[in-house]
Amino acid sequence: MEQKTKWKTAAAAAAAASAAGVSSLLAKRMKNKAFCPVCEWKRLTGKLRLHPVTSPDCGNGAAKTPPMGWSSWNLFERNINETLILEIAEAMRNSGLADAGYCYVNLDDCWQSSERDEHGRLQADLSAFPHGIRALADKVNALGLKLGIYSSNGDRTCEDYPASLRHEAIDADTFAAWGVEYFKYDFCHNRRISEKAPLVSAIELSLPGESAFETIAPDAVTCSGRARVFTDEKSGRAYLTGLDSHAGAFRFETEMQTDCALVLTLRVKKPADAERFLRLTVNGKDEYHLYAPKMRAPVPDPGDRRIQTTVRLQKGKNTLVFDNPVRSRFDSAALQYRHMGRELRRATREFAEQNGTEEKPIVYSICEWGFNFPWKWGRQAGNLWRTTGDIKPVWASVLAIYERNVRLWNYAAPGGWNDPDMLEVGVGKLTEDENRAHFSLWCMMAAPLILGNDVRTFVLPDGTADSSNKTLQMLTNKAMIEIDQDALGIQCRRIKAGLQDVLVKPLTGARAAVCVFNKTRRPATVALELQDIANEGFVQLKQKDCYEVFDVWENKTQQCTGALSATVKPHGVKVYIIK
Ligand code: GLA
Repeated sequence: MEQKTKWKTAAAAAAAASAAGVSSLLAKRMKNKAFCPVCEWKRLTGKLRLHPVTSPDCGNGAAKTPPMGWSSWNLFERNINETLILEIAEAMRNSGLADAGYCYVNLDDCWQSSERDEHGRLQADLSAFPHGIRALADKVNALGLKLGIYSSNGDRTCEDYPASLRHEAIDADTFAAWGVEYFKYDFCHNRRISEKAPLVSAIELSLPGESAFETIAPDAVTCSGRARVFTDEKSGRAYLTGLDSHAGAFRFETEMQTDCALVLTLRVKKPADAERFLRLTVNGKDEYHLYAPKMRAPVPDPGDRRIQTTVRLQKGKNTLVFDNPVRSRFDSAALQYRHMGRELRRATREFAEQNGTEEKPIVYSICEWGFNFPWKWGRQAGNLWRTTGDIKPVWASVLAIYERNVRLWNYAAPGGWNDPDMLEVGVGKLTEDENRAHFSLWCMMAAPLILGNDVRTFVLPDGTADSSNKTLQMLTNKAMIEIDQDALGIQCRRIKAGLQDVLVKPLTGARAAVCVFNKTRRPATVALELQDIANEGFVQLKQKDCYEVFDVWENKTQQCTGALSATVKPHGVKVYIIK
């Protein structure tokens, strides 16, 4: 009792002290003429919440159904080369996997050389891929398949090879020129974007190699939010400020005689404390990311720093808006991933225009492991987003990933999918039932189906498919793949959770897929009331006395009135298509 009182007193004292601290901080801020209580509140709470950047869908026209293919990571990891990838591609064709829909052959990490080439472009390992990626893509295409590639939204990849953060444009151009059609973008060595914006003293526009033809002073721009001009007492210089953490923006307009690429130079105060960031949006669509690095060491008169970029302006009026929209790590990740998505779309479009070829859209796979709620912003950035950490070929991993991904049903739809990671079917020590359950759950969750096993084992020495191979049979089960690929693009919902889960996925043609998943080590029998399932609001099954029930794994059809009794093996599933 005495102890309790002591705690209470201590807690009250701490609360009082912190209240005093906060109020003195507020009092200090309130002395500032530009104090805005609403902005202050937004800034404080902003750090705690997610601020999805609202924008139209990613719009690359890719992945209207979950992508299907193969990736080098799960089994081969660091040991990949041109010969292996071509053998895999051939095996995908010869085994029938390609005909079943698996069309992407994806290089994961470790395809790169440790150095960029003399033009600053990524290049493949010079000995493992002697003919380069363009030639590999051509050969893969000739087999009727598409090549995928990998990089990281960081300074280096997870295996420490050169990566794409702050090289987005050049890398996107490289991938488009190589004819790559799938891009996985990891999160290793990521650098978070600063919430602080630099103080801007002037903006200059020039033609490359010439001096500025237009200089915009701070008082010549239009400020919004907390953005304003302030004069530094020491230097007497005017700066634009108030742009940190989405607090404000400034804009100006400029007329051009023709479409052109101009050099834009920002004069900014050298940041003493940390790197600072500004986003430039031109005409509401093209986005440029500008970084002002931290000074090496603070000096008495740091002077100004220039930040330069080449911007494309159009004939007629152009509107240039500068802001820093980052308030949290979530905003930082979302902004970076969206930026890469935009560059990929620009690169494939421009490559097609310049070469008079048909545009090859790149399926954009966001792989930041679900750290920054990618399901909230991934659809605007790309086509699929990892919802969890890496899968391992063990049952506990499959189960844990399923448990997380199954809850996110509301975010999947054509063009953008939850990605519970690649398949481990046929990779590790999963039993046959576990492999079947893993594959079925992924199909029910409308997940991308990216194989990770050695598909060369599916082909006989004479080059034909080994149709007796159980794993191949499983992975090419037509009805199961149709459930995954159904045009409605709806992820299953779990209508019963427990030791046995019941999942329901609406399908085209007023049908539904129902999966009973037994998580225990004992067989279990579950009664499914089909009328009840039909009554679920999100299902379009008709109310009937008798339903046609197709057992996907038994390949049998039966008529069912009343309850359907499903006996499910340990770590197993039963999957039905009901109509
Ligand atoms: C991360 C990803 C994996 C794989 C490896 C490669 O861990 O999540 O899927 O790409 O990097 O290094």
